[in-house]
Amino acid sequence: MFADLYGELRGTVTADSLQQVLDHYTAGDWRADRVLVTGDLIQDDSAGAYGRFREFLLPLNLRVHCVPGNHDIRALMQKTCRVPPFSYCAYEEIGDWLLIGLDSCVKGDAGGQVREDELKRLSETIADSSAKHVMVCLHHPPVPMGSAWLDTVGLSNGEEFLERLQSAGRVRLMVFGHVHQAFEEEHDGIQIIATPSTCRQFKPRSDEFAVDERPPAYRRITLESDGTFETELVWVEDD
Ligand SMILES: [Fe+2]
Repeated sequence: MFADLYGELRGTVTADSLQQVLDHYTAGDWRADRVLVTGDLIQDDSAGAYGRFREFLLPLNLRVHCVPGNHDIRALMQKTCRVPPFSYCAYEEIGDWLLIGLDSCVKGDAGGQVREDELKRLSETIADSSAKHVMVCLHHPPVPMGSAWLDTVGLSNGEEFLERLQSAGRVRLMVFGHVHQAFEEEHDGIQIIATPSTCRQFKPRSDEFAVDERPPAYRRITLESDGTFETELVWVEDD
């Protein structure tokens, strides 16, 4: 998002593309209880862009869980995303599930790392919760994407992070952003999932940066009380 409603990223007006995604959701029958936004909310380093983001999401009348990405400015994002119905790196118990958002960003670096204080917060939040199942959200991928350029800007301590998820127990699902493409992989019983962007996509398995001509997308996730979940990726094609 840009403060400027006509701001373009790689030839796409990001506000239009986000609105297209929101309109697709609104026009459909499937209804969400929460929105999860996995980082890189803005592109122009401005408070105004966060204001726009808020303005676009508010009509949904849903709680919006947000985690920061490498393009976000923490202080600006927190000002907007800590005001309900938005929340920033928060946790919430929803039925039998605990949802927790983590900060994986490193200032000045496109790649990420989950710092020890966040790992500790993750373990403590899970230990303090009686929820049977856990879903963890952050921006950077903890596993290689098979794309040389993207794999230089992933999570530098991905293996350690996944080990912590395992040892915390009850983690069934981990979702991330950053990679602008679909991805699903199981890692020792934890499903690791990425959702393409609401704007332009990156070409999967490309060793050099390349834009993919796939349309904007969003993902529906339905959490079941037995710890299973259903997920459906929705590509929003032009009418
Ligand atoms: Fe990113």
